[in-house]
Amino acid sequence: MSSSLKIIAIDGPAASGKSTLGLNLARALGYLFFDTGVMYRAITWLAIHHGLDLNDAEALTKLAETVEIDIRPASQEDGRTSDIISEGLDLTWEIRRPEVDANVSQVSAYPGVRNALTQQQRRIGLRGEIVMVGRDIGTVVLPEAPLKIYLDASAPERARRRFQEIVERGETANYAEILEKIKKRDQIDSSRDVAPLRAASDAVVIQSDSCNAKQVFDHVLVLIEKMQTQHSRASTKSNDDC
Ligand code: CDP
Repeated sequence: MSSSLKIIAIDGPAASGKSTLGLNLARALGYLFFDTGVMYRAITWLAIHHGLDLNDAEALTKLAETVEIDIRPASQEDGRTSDIISEGLDLTWEIRRPEVDANVSQVSAYPGVRNALTQQQRRIGLRGEIVMVGRDIGTVVLPEAPLKIYLDASAPERARRRFQEIVERGETANYAEILEKIKKRDQIDSSRDVAPLRAASDAVVIQSDSCNAKQVFDHVLVLIEKMQTQHSRASTKSNDDC
């Protein structure tokens, strides 16, 4: 990577494959993988767990400003990529529950919640050698990242991938419901006032409907190699197929 910062920012809508790509890149490069979505999910789960009113922006902001969310190396081989711990509880799978899916976009739209979490994410990101995944990494959290990927796919394709993920975990899933929820989350994430979901002006946009995870990964590796040989940012906005 050309910049000494060595930061890869990956943004995109729900279930577009950001985490899979990010994790594979981090492993290949020996970087830290940081999925910022787990922080918004953990706040949402804790708020529900404590019986907070999810319309109370002040209470949720206070929770985000005070609670500690620990992301540690995976302690179990049950498909997790890391342990998500808070208040002494292992929330790794709790934060994937349907009630969190249904409410996380509302919680993450509050400016106070975003402010508290964004500051922590930026502090960690600036240490470098990191692949950070979310909705606003290239636009707000780490705009200086030398490589920004915006990974997209159509809603039906993303719903299909999420459906498969759930079934592979041995749980039951309903495709139509998943599609509807993904569309709703996209709509809230894209239309919020603070840090809405969008590609940074200098992001490489990858439309991944017809690509599998390996093809997307290989494509980004080529981009990284090009950047390394040209000693430049993967600057100009481009729309890439894989
Ligand atoms: O994995 P999936 O794409 O379903 O979602 P996620 O990355 O775990 O993020 C869950 C939710 O957190 C998103 O729908 C956003 O509302 C919010 N989020 C955000 O606002 N900013 C981020 N940097 C990451 C997640």
